[in-house]
Amino acid sequence: MTFQLMMAVGAAVIGSVQFGYNTGVINAPQKIIESFYNDTWYDRYSEYIPKASLTTLWSISVAIFSVGGIFGSFSVGLFVNRLGRRNSMLIANILAFLAAAFMGFSKMASSWEMLIIGRFIIGLYSGLSTGFVPMYVGEIAPTSLRGALGTLHQLGVVIGILVAQIFGIESIMGTPTLWPLLLGFTFIPAVMQCALLPFCPESPRYLLINQNEENKAKSVLKKLRGTDDVGADMQEMREESRQMMREKKVTILELFRSPLYRQPLLVAVMLQLSQQLSGINAVFYYSTTIFEKAGVSKPVYATIGAGVVNVAFTVVSLFVVERAGRRSLHLVGLMGMAVSAVLMTIAMALLDQLKWMSYVSIVAIFSFVAFFEIGPGPIPWFIVAELFSQGPRPSAIAVAGFSNWLANFIVGMCFQYVEQLTGPYVFIIFTVLLLFFFVFTYFKVPETKGRTFDEISAGFRQNAGKYATDEANTLGADSQL
Ligand SMILES: *[C@@H]1O[C@H](CO)[C@@H](O)[C@H](O)[C@H]1NC(C)=O
Repeated sequence: MTFQLMMAVGAAVIGSVQFGYNTGVINAPQKIIESFYNDTWYDRYSEYIPKASLTTLWSISVAIFSVGGIFGSFSVGLFVNRLGRRNSMLIANILAFLAAAFMGFSKMASSWEMLIIGRFIIGLYSGLSTGFVPMYVGEIAPTSLRGALGTLHQLGVVIGILVAQIFGIESIMGTPTLWPLLLGFTFIPAVMQCALLPFCPESPRYLLINQNEENKAKSVLKKLRGTDDVGADMQEMREESRQMMREKKVTILELFRSPLYRQPLLVAVMLQLSQQLSGINAVFYYSTTIFEKAGVSKPVYATIGAGVVNVAFTVVSLFVVERAGRRSLHLVGLMGMAVSAVLMTIAMALLDQLKWMSYVSIVAIFSFVAFFEIGPGPIPWFIVAELFSQGPRPSAIAVAGFSNWLANFIVGMCFQYVEQLTGPYVFIIFTVLLLFFFVFTYFKVPETKGRTFDEISAGFRQNAGKYATDEANTLGADSQL
């Protein structure tokens, strides 16, 4: 582990923190910013904002972030192979500065439109970042540290969420005067990244494979590894790229058309949906309101507690994920979340009779988050990468990313409406979804740990074959009748 490597990984992971920060930042100050919307509405139309309009405006402000994420995650490929990994990360900060300006000055300009535009732009940045950071870190890390350093992206995200929740409390920046600073804070990580990245090397893999700059790649590797003996690394990169050349790149269209990929693609998409439709972002976007409705006296602190549990269990899962089977962890996580959601519903429903139910709701949300980080948090990304070989993988990851952000958008946008309709029973919906995904995982998701792509796809083919024979048998029986 050299200083160069540490600095490069650190600088990159600031992008992950930025993503997490903006996921969590609108949670605590919801009430305060809503009253800014209310005041602004009054100034413009001389009447208080109707409740329905407020719900719509706030839901858009929250969820537009994921729309940015969709566009961002689809644009990753446009940047990384032309500009290089490091320069792509550097340039993306233009978006972070723009977003900070839009959000930070929205109050001064009495404009919720600016806040919404800012949220969209930082969503773009986040979509790009979730592509750039794991790629860059994976390419500069030596093979032995690749797994460990790769997990830093996830850790950066959850730390970002926690920091945002802490900054959002009233005694820091969660006040009617300071909230623009809270949202504009995005500026600081962007400055840090811009200061550090110029001193970080370009990815040696990009230099060698995309640019064919052998000497530059070598000198970067020497600095990163802190040794002159980088022949093995160079050899490995060449071997990897040769392997990639051997397998034809599969486009997204081909991925959908070929029956060969139908099963794995279905599994990949469903796992992404299971991550987002589990309701986790209902917690990260709205937990303060949820806790308030559940009768918690200091909801903001419960939100911070959820953030701490989130970080703690992310660390736990880092140690578990590599060793345990992916499928089993996902099943445990989904079931644990479903049970927590039921507990949450009971706590909300009995709140009027039993005041101490507010504590039960805290426990329920904490365990909801903990089980998320054990299974549905990390596993879907793991499995997507393991289900597809080099050729179809980039397209598969793009489709998975799209499904993920889209489901994220749906939850962010609809949660408040559904909650208004269902009252305390809103978590029942997540329970039903979680159980559905549990059943799907149980019957359709293969264990990928320690198996090669060939073995996995052979498993899928065998399954498809079995159904085909069943069908043939049925048909045969019919014709006999
Ligand atoms: C808007 O502000 C007014 C005055 O403070 C308040 O009475 C009203 O309930 C607010 N509207 C909403 C939807 O919060």
